[in-house]
Amino acid sequence: MELPKSRDEVVERYSRVFSPASRVTYAPIVGVRAENARVWDIEGREYIDFLSDAAVQNVGHNNPRVVEAIVEQAKKLVHFTFIYGFPVEPLLLAEKLVEVAPVESPKVTLGLSGSDANDGAIKFSRAYTGRRTILSYLRSFYGNTYGSLSITGLDFELRSKVGELSEVHYIPYPNCYRCPFRKEMGSCRMECVDYIKEKFEGEVYGEGVAALFAEPIQGDAGMVVPPRDYFKRVKKILDEYGILLVVDEVQSGMGRTGKWFAIEHFGVKPDIMTIAKPLGGGLPISAVIGREEVMDSLPPLGHTFTLSGNPVASRAALAVIEEIEEKNLLKRAEKLGNYAKKRLEKMKEEHELIGDVRGLGLMLGVDLVRDRDTKERAYDEARKVVWRAYELGLILAFLQGNVLRIQPPLTIEEETLEEGLDRLDRAIGDVEEGRVSEEALKKVKGW
Ligand SMILES: Cc1ncc(COP(=O)(O)O)c(C=O)c1O
Repeated sequence: MELPKSRDEVVERYSRVFSPASRVTYAPIVGVRAENARVWDIEGREYIDFLSDAAVQNVGHNNPRVVEAIVEQAKKLVHFTFIYGFPVEPLLLAEKLVEVAPVESPKVTLGLSGSDANDGAIKFSRAYTGRRTILSYLRSFYGNTYGSLSITGLDFELRSKVGELSEVHYIPYPNCYRCPFRKEMGSCRMECVDYIKEKFEGEVYGEGVAALFAEPIQGDAGMVVPPRDYFKRVKKILDEYGILLVVDEVQSGMGRTGKWFAIEHFGVKPDIMTIAKPLGGGLPISAVIGREEVMDSLPPLGHTFTLSGNPVASRAALAVIEEIEEKNLLKRAEKLGNYAKKRLEKMKEEHELIGDVRGLGLMLGVDLVRDRDTKERAYDEARKVVWRAYELGLILAFLQGNVLRIQPPLTIEEETLEEGLDRLDRAIGDVEEGRVSEEALKKVKGW
């Protein structure tokens, strides 16, 4: 085993050994140490992490409570399968999850990733309703296993190569900045809701639909926030046809938006909810939480994995939940999110490149455009902003090619947030002023 000595060596060795299918590069950061919202690379450079490691580190990198729980548990019992035996840690976690989840009389399964949780939700909704069809949204992202990939409304190229589950239909997401129905915010008749009814009248047999899968805020679509009464109206239609509402909280959950789960902003209760990413504070763990009768619809072993309910990951998740509760991180996400949003809106006044600022809590998106009237996506500029941010010591990414993703840990110190926003402001300004070379486009790939 030869330990690498420099960033360039690591990047080069990565390209030799990893399939390109496993990664995508924004900036070449070889993280070796991290604490709360700061990350240090192999050469000792320090970065502010505005991504929380892809919305994973809601309670901060290497949160001491989480690390202690992991170490303590690892010394006692690393694994004792939850499939045959009865380890206590996953039980305590499941009991806690049903307490915080906005689901009526819930039961739980545990897994390892957001993708497998969404596969579980497909299975439960099909088994419970006895129906096959799944309704999903364009530009949605549910994961990379076959089931979750098949209901994802992105990456049709990948699916054309590998095939997919059948009987999935797509509807447009309520995007008020780029309305798929070409309407203006405030003066529309919610054509996006009418469209669902029309779909059932013409194209799709409503009584054959098992579930609608929705992200309450579409994350990888570029932090798209629906109007506040959207899900209530949709739920009414779903109830008429006996269709389940499945809510993917993999990215938006665990306090990110200022509530435990983003769907709570919209006043409806889902039949099934999926969570992962931040749940284990960096360890792989996911959960499907659904109404009891839905969760009782699969036979034994219908949705579980050998390492489900791993005691170390479960203890880490319990520590994440305790941290959110004890540090009052829901309030903090709301407060810091409002502050960051205000500053981003101020930046919008100064930078023509910013077309829209949106989001809830600390789940924010900055939509970069070439022209505020046409809203043409500023793809190259977004890549340059991410590169310049990297040079300035800020970890940043974009979604849909042009929407900057702002999701710092909920525990980020106020001064660090401020410093990160200053660096972002400067990066955008530098791109506007032509101070970032075209070379950046060769380095930042993104998706
Ligand atoms: C909304 C959403 N659902 C599901 C997933 C898939 O989660 P995982 O990568 O843990 O499988 C992601 C990952 O980015 C996501 O953002």
